[in-house]
Amino acid sequence: MKTVKKHKLKRPAKILIGVIIVLVIAISIPVGYRIYHGNRLGKLHYDKAAISSILSKGKQSYIYEVGENKTLNAAFQSKDYQEKYLKDYEEIPYQDQKNLIKNINKLLDKEYSVKEVAAIVSHGNNEEVSAFAEREKVDDVLDYMQFDYAKLENYDRYVAYQLEERDDEEDTVTYVNLNLDKEFYTDSILIEEYSETVLANKYRQLGEKYVPDDLMKIQEKYSVDDEQYLTKVAAEAFEEMAQAAEEEGYYILANSAYRSYQDQQETYDTYKEAYGQNYVDNYVALPGYSEHQTGLALDVASKNSNIFAESEEYTWMLENSYKYGFIMRYPKDKERITGYKYESWHYRYVGKEIAEYIFENDLTYDEYYARFLDK
Ligand code: DAL
Ligand code: ZN
Repeated sequence: MKTVKKHKLKRPAKILIGVIIVLVIAISIPVGYRIYHGNRLGKLHYDKAAISSILSKGKQSYIYEVGENKTLNAAFQSKDYQEKYLKDYEEIPYQDQKNLIKNINKLLDKEYSVKEVAAIVSHGNNEEVSAFAEREKVDDVLDYMQFDYAKLENYDRYVAYQLEERDDEEDTVTYVNLNLDKEFYTDSILIEEYSETVLANKYRQLGEKYVPDDLMKIQEKYSVDDEQYLTKVAAEAFEEMAQAAEEEGYYILANSAYRSYQDQQETYDTYKEAYGQNYVDNYVALPGYSEHQTGLALDVASKNSNIFAESEEYTWMLENSYKYGFIMRYPKDKERITGYKYESWHYRYVGKEIAEYIFENDLTYDEYYARFLDK
């Protein structure tokens, strides 16, 4: 009896065990598959949502061939993903923009090339790119966006400015970024934070309280009146330069270095009274707009001549100042860019590296700033 009972219980149990085994296998194969690919894709820095979408679309092999790719990661996460643009997503460098994939789709729909789309999305923020993706297709987007420093938001201004001025595209982008397509003193940018690379010009105003905190008096022997200050780094560079000139028999003096906002007001008023509006418009900055307020610029004089441009010291400065980190800030034939007439006497400290680049490439500081420092 006992044995019979035992047999009766064994059979359904076996079936049950069999069913359980089949079920476990049936469940664990896909689970294991997902875990395996999830781990592999995770190691390539695909996020959870992207991994799930990659697996459900069966694109894991494709991804393994591509490897890590942030745009693909964004595409697979996005509800806007389109299979036909898979290869394009792969080639467009990722940008941290909310509507990146949606905008890429819109631009590709308009038949922009992948190169053009990459240029568009990398030159603006989410809003600017979204707006651009809405507008009618243009053919010359790369003419301007080929430059790192081009700004998508300025696209229409580039087109208009080039039509008017006929500069090449590089200059057009540079000049428009500097706001040269606007009247002087329009839409001025207010600068309140000190920086050694600060750009002050007719579009960029220093606040009334902008005072460099490490002003240092220039040694009396290199100054007209023992009352001239520059920031420490500029003062030391100036003294080093004046000493080097002296050793070669040239005598350079600081004539007017740091000027506060109020000093500049007085300078402006004095010159206006003496020489009139036209003169100050061309030679003297309005308070706030003067580079003298940065503590990094100065007017120099020659010990031996009243007219600096006719002195030997002037020639020496032209050839050597960049070696000490100084550039001539308002050169000849650059009035349109700097907004000031040629000033043989005004120099700006920008550091040796930048000064050398500017010297060798015949640039103004405005242009250098627009191309390399305006982030
Ligand atoms: N002379 C220069 C432009 C100034 O006043 O700052
Ligand atoms: Zn000056």
